Amino acid sequence: MKSFITNSSEETILLGKRIVEALPSYLHVILLEGDLSSGKTTLTKGIALGLGVKSVVNSPTFTILKIYKGIKMLYHLDLYRMDNIGHDFDLEEYIEDPMGFTVIEWPNQVEALIPKVYVHIKLTYLDLDKRLIEITTSNALDEWMNTL
Ligand SMILES: Nc1ncnc2c1ncn2[C@@H]1O[C@H](COP(=O)(O)OP(=O)(O)OP(=O)(O)O)[C@@H](O)[C@H]1O
Ligand SMILES: [Mg+2]
Repeated sequence: MKSFITNSSEETILLGKRIVEALPSYLHVILLEGDLSSGKTTLTKGIALGLGVKSVVNSPTFTILKIYKGIKMLYHLDLYRMDNIGHDFDLEEYIEDPMGFTVIEWPNQVEALIPKVYVHIKLTYLDLDKRLIEITTSNALDEWMNTL
């Protein structure tokens, strides 16, 4: 586990970029947990930068999924409204694409679909511009975090 405190959205974006650059390639699913406005989409902007995505990443709240093209395909899922949409949506296809990179906001909606290997990032609102960002992985092999 590694924790950071960021003092601006720019710092959170930079952290997202550093995370994706440090990640070993077998880690390509990131679960983002945190309240509304805790910074999940902001962190995803940095992840997209790290993946070489040129277009602007914004909140997919009303679309569930947005796909961006970078070094890998970035699948950005926001499952906050999953219950309204129903479960006929084929999420496995994205989560299991080894050539893709998947970021999931509100992953508790699809617990059954979460792969065995993932990065979990919890964001907590501390103050207007301050966030606590805690990173863990599904396995103990997290030496890559030392390079963050
Ligand atoms: N240190 C910080 N890190 C991230 N965002 C910050 C920070 N300080 C201020 N902010 C602001 O907080 C807001 C975070 O919004 P964001 O959309 O990233 O949250 P979210 O967790 O994705 O919310 P939602 O659950 O509604 O999708 C943005 O307006 C951002 O500019
Ligand atoms: Mg969001």
